[in-house]
Amino acid sequence: MTDAKPGAKNSVTLTDNRTGRSWEFPVLDGSIGPSVIDIRKLYAETGSFTYDPGYTSTGSCESKITFIDGEAGILRHRGYAIEDLAEHSDFMEVCYLLLHGDLPNAEQKAKFVHDITYHTMVHEQLQYLYRGFRRDAHPMAVMVGVVGALSAFYHDSTDIADPHQRMIASHRLIAKMPTIAAMAFKYSLGQPFVYPKNDLSYAANFLSMCFTVPCEPYVVNPVLAKAMDRIFILHADHEQNASTSTVRMAGSSGANPFACIAAGIASLWGPAHGGANEAVLRMLGEIRTKDRIPEFIKRAKDKNDPFRLMGFGHRVYKNYDPRAAVMRRTCYEVLEELGKKNEPLLDLALELERIALDDEYFVERKLYPNVDFYSGIILQAMGFPTSIFTVLFAVARTVGWIAQWKEMVEDPEQRIGRPRQLYTGHAKRDFVPIDKRG
Ligand code: SDX
Repeated sequence: MTDAKPGAKNSVTLTDNRTGRSWEFPVLDGSIGPSVIDIRKLYAETGSFTYDPGYTSTGSCESKITFIDGEAGILRHRGYAIEDLAEHSDFMEVCYLLLHGDLPNAEQKAKFVHDITYHTMVHEQLQYLYRGFRRDAHPMAVMVGVVGALSAFYHDSTDIADPHQRMIASHRLIAKMPTIAAMAFKYSLGQPFVYPKNDLSYAANFLSMCFTVPCEPYVVNPVLAKAMDRIFILHADHEQNASTSTVRMAGSSGANPFACIAAGIASLWGPAHGGANEAVLRMLGEIRTKDRIPEFIKRAKDKNDPFRLMGFGHRVYKNYDPRAAVMRRTCYEVLEELGKKNEPLLDLALELERIALDDEYFVERKLYPNVDFYSGIILQAMGFPTSIFTVLFAVARTVGWIAQWKEMVEDPEQRIGRPRQLYTGHAKRDFVPIDKRG
């Protein structure tokens, strides 16, 4: 029998109607949000697995980092609302919060910013890795390759059992991702790489490495730097999403943090996940004019048509994604600053959102704009090509991935991830020599 007492308040009873047998399983309560049924002994006790493709009803771990209430459209990092962090904090503070659990005081912040700043350079040999790629390679392919190779350069921070090495690897990844991303962008343009500058903020440094050319000085626009910093905050972490779960799964085998983050980048690339921001721009480009919106809304509802309204819907949010609301406000700020406030793409997106939110199909399924719906419009206005959008998402999400990885490595309950299956293939067949096969 499991630990829970039959009929105990903090348990559930499972009865197998085929045999009449019953089992008790403990219910574990979090600080807020849904409780979980602890089924770790289910297979040993019942001989059955659970079945939950896509893990819609499965908690994979215990975490203290991010809380989402999808019905209410709530996102909090260590208890702080994303709206407050986006409005009053900055990305370095949010990185510290995700990694260490509290907002830093002035002294802690100064030291953290210094530590990150002085890790932004990459090993000089790393630049030769880029030359193995065609110039027109998708920058996400470059990111997966280069980040995966980091363990070859920073082998002294791959012993995951050493807390000091875990922290150094975390700092290196947070610090070097903008440099690596900017190098991927420059490589795609055929422009020379730009070294980080220690006198610039994290977001300003990233813009400088992306847009500086040798022929003239580049002065970072503070409004754009602030918008970039806020976009990093909005993408920093998001509970156990596909890419974070990939990082945790890779890390559960003891793989080094660089390899785990490369796995997260690979997962984020998918159009159903982080690749959606790029897909939104492609979709808006295909729709082109407001009068064609109904045709695309119709296609999005047609089960025989693979077309989805990109930037809409979410596995967890059945309300407006709180990040999308902040992103939309940021969109207005950036377009205003750049003198593009009548940007046709924004107009089209707003009209598409208005029509979709009024349509029974989307209302019934609680499909709202998500974080990706407006981000691409801002990034394109700032001068980034669509192929770089998901790279920026990966830069921002690295702190979330590494905070979740660190929490997993330090969690005594965590073991190697090894799900089972419902097998529906051939039960058993005898081998047939090739001359006897049909
Ligand atoms: C991110 O998990 C995270 O937290 C991710 C993320 C993060 O920060 O890490 O928030 C970032 O990935 C945001 C999501 C970006 N992806 C997109 O914008 C792509 C378009 N969205 C869909 O592909 C979809 O909404 C998902 C993948 C986001 C969610 O898929 P689910 O939860 O599996 O939803 P579903 O497929 O079960 O949809 C339920 C219904 C279905 O219709 P019925 O079968 O009930 O008739 O809604 C429909 C779906 O067909 N539906 C859509 C739709 N999304 C869902 N129909 C049209 N257009 C859409 N976008």
